[in-house]
Amino acid sequence: MCLPPRDNHLMATLPEVQDWLRNSPRIIVLSGAGMSAESGVPTFRGLDGLWRNFNPLDLATPEAFANNPTLVWEWYDWRRSLVAATHPNPGHLALAQLELQHHLTVITQNVDGLHTRAGSTHVIELHGSLWRTRCTACQSIRTNLTPKLSTLPPLCPDCGQLLRPGVVWFGENLPPMAWEASLEAIAEANLLLVIGTSGTVYPAAELVPLAKQAGAKVVEINLEETPLSPLADATLLGPGGQILPKLLQ
Ligand code: OAD
Repeated sequence: MCLPPRDNHLMATLPEVQDWLRNSPRIIVLSGAGMSAESGVPTFRGLDGLWRNFNPLDLATPEAFANNPTLVWEWYDWRRSLVAATHPNPGHLALAQLELQHHLTVITQNVDGLHTRAGSTHVIELHGSLWRTRCTACQSIRTNLTPKLSTLPPLCPDCGQLLRPGVVWFGENLPPMAWEASLEAIAEANLLLVIGTSGTVYPAAELVPLAKQAGAKVVEINLEETPLSPLADATLLGPGGQILPKLLQ
């Protein structure tokens, strides 16, 4: 059998990528759960991934919240306390450092807030945040920085209806402003770093072909190849918390 020729995206070396980085005034990061894995935050689809142990249909849809708000609230409350006990890892810190030298925007699918805690200031939270709530009726948004809000879903101080976690659930649209800001940032990028995402959830993953079309170089950092790897100019295989500090050396 004749296989099509494989491109050599795995062959780019660290010094080559360091060179691209130095010569890229505008850098975008697209991060996923693997970015926070070394902080101790579980991913979704890995061996111990959340979606291996929990059914997203029971916990991460508007219907699930309507059917059993207490169960859904408790699950997010558990995730909040888990994240509150973690710290940004050397990968998050390296990106915050990179922002001091480049125009850098982080577009994250993560809801843990670790990029901001590491010091990154241009962070677009595509899937919302564990640290926000939104009213199911009047839609008012609250930022709440305490790990444990309450074990029951609290009520909106404005209208008295249920507050829900401020995250994007399956079947919901992304926050329009976050998506538009992402598209604008991608259109001007010279380099896109795709870190710790399986690239299976859309529309977030769509940002990678869009960056290529806009002429950016794409560098993927992951433990393994993903469906996005064929689009990447380089895939650096390994943990982000080790590769990112090396990239900056
Ligand atoms: P996944 O759990 O699907 O993928 C995590 C990726 O991180 C995998 O490709 C791993 O190989 C990689 N990985 C794990 N540890 C790593 C490390 N230390 N360094 C680098 N890479 C590592 O997570 P996401 O792609 O973020 O959405 O999932 C996307 C979305 O699906 C999430 O935002 C969430 C989920 O359903 C919603 O909840 C709406």
